[in-house]
Amino acid sequence: MRIVSGIQPTGNLHLGNYLGAIRNWVRMQNEGQGECFFFLADLHAISLYQEPAGLRRGIREMAAALIAAGIDPSRSTLFRQRDVPAHSELAWLLNGTARVGWLNRMTQFKDKSGKNREGASVALYTYPVLQAADVLLYQATHVPVGEDQKQHLELARDIATKFNTDYAVELFTLPEPIIPPAAARIMSLRDGTAKMSKSDPSDMSRINLTDTPDLISQKVRKAKTDPEPLPEDPAGLEGRPEAKNLVGIYATLANESVPAVLARFAGQGFGAFKPALADLMVESLGPIGERIAQLNADPAELDRLLAIGATRANEVAGPTLTKAYDAMGL
Ligand code: TYM
Repeated sequence: MRIVSGIQPTGNLHLGNYLGAIRNWVRMQNEGQGECFFFLADLHAISLYQEPAGLRRGIREMAAALIAAGIDPSRSTLFRQRDVPAHSELAWLLNGTARVGWLNRMTQFKDKSGKNREGASVALYTYPVLQAADVLLYQATHVPVGEDQKQHLELARDIATKFNTDYAVELFTLPEPIIPPAAARIMSLRDGTAKMSKSDPSDMSRINLTDTPDLISQKVRKAKTDPEPLPEDPAGLEGRPEAKNLVGIYATLANESVPAVLARFAGQGFGAFKPALADLMVESLGPIGERIAQLNADPAELDRLLAIGATRANEVAGPTLTKAYDAMGL
């Protein structure tokens, strides 16, 4: 197994990132079934304008958050995408393989460009090709992500298959997405039909791993819900997106199934459920928040760890890039 995944170093690490992806990164690292490569997708981040000083800060803060969440730089290769030029180089080569029609189907581009498609950056459009390069460079077999990245990984598989066929090589491995069933899509606390996201203007819509216990409790208390009590089984959550989201978050944090959580809370209203959920969040996330603050106090150490990761990532990425150039006659 070769495990590879990335996260954009913009904004705070939030509960959606954590439950949808990072917990699986940590689990796969700790199970030790394959070498792990985790990176800060800083080249992806510039597909939307980033204020340079903020991006620089965000990169270190995201490294701190990942380490605090359990990524161990002595067991996983943790690095910045920008430190491994092979990502950009392979992305260009794969631009020759990817088809415009394939990119036109990407829902994330449609969502992020919105009504202003003509004004979107070219990078936002070709972003999934860079993402394909990210995983194909390392011969990734498993890519732990939230559900919103599934389509990008299917594209990576299509690009890998077409490249291998066009150039009659067996160069690229087809990557498999690893998506957690109950936490595939953690939704906003203000709207159960929109995903929890760093780009939501309302900070009340998300739980950040750096939030204080008081703020976490306040956000849960104010989370949108409905007046009905919790049902006895999961079918009763259908058509109740906010209730479904909060129960899903509880189950994931407690490592329990949704039916087990409902068995305990059935018939009770949110007045009883919300404080229990807030306590569980504070208990699970509080220690991570404290560790993030400690790590952020030593930026030189974070830079040192990222430099070590970059050396290892360059070693592994280089040979694949060379083979891709060779295969193409370059
Ligand atoms: P990003 O930075 O938006 O998110 C990082 C990870 O968090 C997951 N995620 C969620 N999961 C469940 N519920 C949510 N509300 C939620 N919000 C975010 C994402 O699915 C992701 O796994 N394009 C990627 C970064 C990337 C990448 C890669 C990932 C670049 N290259 C190669 C895997 C492999 C992104 O923008 O993720």
